[in-house]
Amino acid sequence: MRWLQAISSRQTLLRANRRSPRARRWELSEAELERMAAARSRPLDARTALMLLARSPRLATDVAHVLGGALRSVIFDNNPLISILDAERGRSAVPDAATGVGWYDEQPFLDVLAPHLRSELIALELGCGGGRISRRVAPMVGELVCTDVLASMVAEASENLAAYANVTVAQTDGFALHEFQERSFDLVFAQGVLGYLDPNPLLGMLDEVARVLRPDGVCVFNFSTIDHPQDMRWQLETVREQARRRRFSGATDRAYTRAQLSAMYEAVGLHVLPAAELAVAGAGRVVIAGRRPAGGA
Ligand SMILES: C[S@@+](CC[C@H](N)C(=O)[O-])C[C@H]1O[C@@H](n2cnc3c(N)ncnc32)[C@H](O)[C@@H]1O
Repeated sequence: MRWLQAISSRQTLLRANRRSPRARRWELSEAELERMAAARSRPLDARTALMLLARSPRLATDVAHVLGGALRSVIFDNNPLISILDAERGRSAVPDAATGVGWYDEQPFLDVLAPHLRSELIALELGCGGGRISRRVAPMVGELVCTDVLASMVAEASENLAAYANVTVAQTDGFALHEFQERSFDLVFAQGVLGYLDPNPLLGMLDEVARVLRPDGVCVFNFSTIDHPQDMRWQLETVREQARRRRFSGATDRAYTRAQLSAMYEAVGLHVLPAAELAVAGAGRVVIAGRRPAGGA
């Protein structure tokens, strides 16, 4: 584990193949997907929240962090409890569903990532969630380190990825990548994660990505961009609805422009590669890849 710097007592590091696997399904029928969506769309009252917590006590760590303010400026600034309880709400309808099943198609992001995958690479994933993208990437790289800010997601990903001997799952603090040494990864990627960060936390995270990438290493992230016509429509409709409810959600992509994101990459020394567009519903269509220059500072 050349990439590992230090693991504090608060952080979790799990070798995925040491955990006993608990079967979670990635394929659901239409009826099951509809049941999950219906469960997630119901208003979350205090009684339901307590029942979900009782069913899944491992969420308590994340809830405690949120209530203590630890995650507030990272992602879940306005609706922390709903975000954390969401996977369990879905599972109340389909008990063995993996977190992320039924989200929009993962293939378009993987198609853009694929040319950057090689069997000798050491890759780092940010915001792995339940391991939806990770399970597809793991067979195509030498080593994969999956990270997430939530303890509950780290626990679930390590169960879901138990079959892959080359996968390690670690919890990060969401602000930085202190655990990892400078220049230790060939590839850093994230699907549906960095767009949730406000500009300064995002710039800080990109700076960390540039630090942990090896010279010539590449990062691949997707974003909702306000200058993409479909993303712009989605963003505006979402924000209008939230403004009407007087409650903006931390779990909604921030409205970045492509030029703003490119400037952030360049500021931390990542050279922007040509952007790709995904054919997906919702947000997060634009994929921006960056390369740490070979021999660069
Ligand atoms: C929408 S989910 C995407 C999960 C996965 N990438 C996928 O596509 O299935 C976003 C995930 O990113 C995590 N996350 C959000 N901000 C993060 C941060 N700053 N650092 C690490 N993980 C973060 C959340 O906990 C959540 O699991």
